[in-house]
Amino acid sequence: MYSRIAGIGSYLPERVLTNAELETMVDTTDEWIRSRTGIERRHIANDDQTTTDLAEQAARRAMENAGVTPADIDFIVVGTTTPDVVFPNVGCLLQQRFDIHGCPAFSVETACSGFIYALSIADRYVVSGGAKCALVIGAETLSRMTDWNDRATCVIFGDGAGAVILQPADEPGIISCHLGADGRYHDLLYNPYGTSKQRKPGDTEGPYIQMRGNEVFKVAVKTLENLVDQTLAENHLDKHEIDWLVPHQANTRIIQATAKRLDMPMDKVVMTVREHGNTSAASVPLALDTAVRDGRIQRGDLLLLETFGGGFTWGSSLIRF
Ligand code: UT7
Repeated sequence: MYSRIAGIGSYLPERVLTNAELETMVDTTDEWIRSRTGIERRHIANDDQTTTDLAEQAARRAMENAGVTPADIDFIVVGTTTPDVVFPNVGCLLQQRFDIHGCPAFSVETACSGFIYALSIADRYVVSGGAKCALVIGAETLSRMTDWNDRATCVIFGDGAGAVILQPADEPGIISCHLGADGRYHDLLYNPYGTSKQRKPGDTEGPYIQMRGNEVFKVAVKTLENLVDQTLAENHLDKHEIDWLVPHQANTRIIQATAKRLDMPMDKVVMTVREHGNTSAASVPLALDTAVRDGRIQRGDLLLLETFGGGFTWGSSLIRF
């Protein structure tokens, strides 16, 4: 038994924040942002929109695309670092929205790698017969933990959600998932506060994303190179067999480095960073949905998904779409 992606959907909040607007907020330029990151605009949730709101829209679109209804869903896993509340988790909040009750519902908190971690877990449940219609989501409202006075981070992140439906299949589907993490690098990309570790008077760091971008960049490039090599080697695949690279949308230059490693022309790499910015756990399913809906990715294509994020955490998935 294997699992396959039976449907996909995504959602971006309506509000668009352009580089030109950011020029009026912090000491930056459109030219700097575009040349260093590739980003031109990003979507930002309205004040009354939460991660669950974004996830719900993406999930409804994925269910519609798969031809299933909420009543068919028997497993929900959400990759997110920006849940609405500490608990109930976003999966449980979605059960309420869809009026479905009883199936397992939980979230995984691995920053930008959340979707691929979630996909890997759901794949194992479907393959082992533990789920027949799994809803897998990556959803974030990173704008809520962005310091809008910090030019080193606020130009990078955006909000959004992407979702897939996984169902059993006789042929793969999800061919393999490869996950990894290394907590040694915890201080290069983090949010210093949570529920157990709270902000105290006199603390200098705000409750926002802190990133030593240049150092993150170097580890990201190296780790992703190793990750794609590992994914190809473990599947006895030649790099030229991959039809599409669907990378985490953190930075055009990081994506180009991975594409170079795979010897892939950039027209075989799905790039949404220009329009979406870095949406963390939502970025890979958002990119995948974009290329499926515009007709670039076709059924039967061989896809390599990869991601890297805070922790550090990373993951890849090889998929016959
Ligand atoms: O998704 C999770 C993983 N995250 C990532 O993968 C992010 C990885 N890192 C990056 O994408 C890049 O490192 C950044 C886009 C964050 C930064 O690009 P960079 O080329 O590494 O720049 P830098 O941090 O080395 O900074 C270069 C200069 C500095 O000024 P000085 O010290 O050379 O005078 C910064 O202060 O650019 C300055 N700078 C800015 N200037 C204008 C930093 N942010 C900005 C800004 N506008 N927004």
